Amino acid sequence: MHRTLYDILLDVSKSAMIDAGNLQTAGRLILTAAIDGLQINRAGIWLLTDGKQAIRSKMLMDGDNCIFDCDLQLTRSDYPHYFTSLDSARAVITNDVCAEQNTDFRANYLIPSGITSMLNAPIHHRGEMLGIICCEHQGELRAWTNEEIAFTSALADTYGRAISAAQRNEYEQQLKEINEQLEQKIDDRTNVLQTALRNLNHTQAKLIESEKLASLGRLVSGLAHEINTPLGISVTSSSHCASELNRVQKLYQEDALNEETFALFLAELEDGLGLINDNLHRAATLIQNFKLSGAIHTANEEEAFELRACIELTLKSLQPLLKKNRIDCILAPGPEITLNSYPGAIAQIITNLITNSIHHAFANTIEKKIQLQLERTPERITLHYRDNGCGIADEIRPKIFEPFFTTARRTGGSGLGLSIVYNLVTQKLGGEIVIDADQSSGAAFTIHLSTQ
Ligand SMILES: Nc1ncnc2c1ncn2[C@@H]1O[C@H](COP(=O)(O)OP(=O)(O)O)[C@@H](O)[C@H]1O
Ligand SMILES: [Mg+2]
Repeated sequence: MHRTLYDILLDVSKSAMIDAGNLQTAGRLILTAAIDGLQINRAGIWLLTDGKQAIRSKMLMDGDNCIFDCDLQLTRSDYPHYFTSLDSARAVITNDVCAEQNTDFRANYLIPSGITSMLNAPIHHRGEMLGIICCEHQGELRAWTNEEIAFTSALADTYGRAISAAQRNEYEQQLKEINEQLEQKIDDRTNVLQTALRNLNHTQAKLIESEKLASLGRLVSGLAHEINTPLGISVTSSSHCASELNRVQKLYQEDALNEETFALFLAELEDGLGLINDNLHRAATLIQNFKLSGAIHTANEEEAFELRACIELTLKSLQPLLKKNRIDCILAPGPEITLNSYPGAIAQIITNLITNSIHHAFANTIEKKIQLQLERTPERITLHYRDNGCGIADEIRPKIFEPFFTTARRTGGSGLGLSIVYNLVTQKLGGEIVIDADQSSGAAFTIHLSTQ
């Protein structure tokens, strides 16, 4: 049974191939339908080139044979009448190719191919005419019916639909590629940032370590200075004893040693040895105290200790530095407090606060003073630290505990001193440090530690 044009059109329109985005399969389906519906042998899809100065064959179907992108092209300059009818953007209906003016390519193409009648339906896409579906009839002249014209126009519209689908596919593909590029870019950037962050952490850790070592170094040089005196006295005294011994030995060998000289020598030897003994004891005690102060424990060992003594010993280690800068530093009288905590951390906190006073506070102060004071309530222990220098300006107060914040970058400030203090107080000791509101008479910090 012969299918009606409507049935053929419906089959094409319903086909999933039209919207799949492949223009060749969609075009082939549409041309096959045209050949089948119009009972012709040849049909083709022709697309206008840019500027509509030529029309080029996109695909030609001859019977079952389909040729894609063959090199057939008609130009406006060669066939102006034909292009004028195309410009109307309506179907170009030619019942007799020899009778119509608009088929000015008949001699070159139509007549040699035996084409007698022709039906061109415009392909529209987004309101613009892109080309035509050209149906060619061979043999007897043919008068195209309205139904055939409508059928061909509907097929041409369906090709417009196929173009939309192909474009959508292309956009999706482009979008996918852009997305992939974007993801790649994000990955690359993330890697760069992660590396930068790792480097930064590494540098920060190194700087913190060197600042800790510097504060330890200050304490150690304090100790070295302290034990220098007793060791010096011991060395002098021992060499004096040795030379006395030498002298008395000579007298003895020459048989010139009398009782009085010998008694004097013994007394001198006793004094000398006593001096050596006392001073070596002093040196040993200093080292012992220094150990107890926790300064050389680098803040890491927890133990039971007496807080006041720990602070006093730390101040003693820093005495040469304080003396050199003519600073009067006192720990006000107060209670003894035994703590189970980290004496090394306490020593480091005090060293950093004092070092800061030395570096930042006293440019315009004549009688330089630092005062520390301990208080205790059942719940907590409080250490007040105060110098009588310039104080900490309001605008920098929120930043001074931040790592790397310094107002002394040009003179070698690392900006880590107070951030280490902050970390030691809050993390190592589980306490709290605040900058006192009143800085009018110098910098003042209060450290709270819990008694537990
Ligand atoms: N006792 C103080 N008196 C005045 N300003 C101070 C005092 N202590 C700290 N500061 C300010 O806090 C800043 C941060 O101190 P810190 O973290 O130890 O870094 P740095 O000492 O390397 O500058 C200092 O640069 C200084 O401006
Ligand atoms: Mg500092």
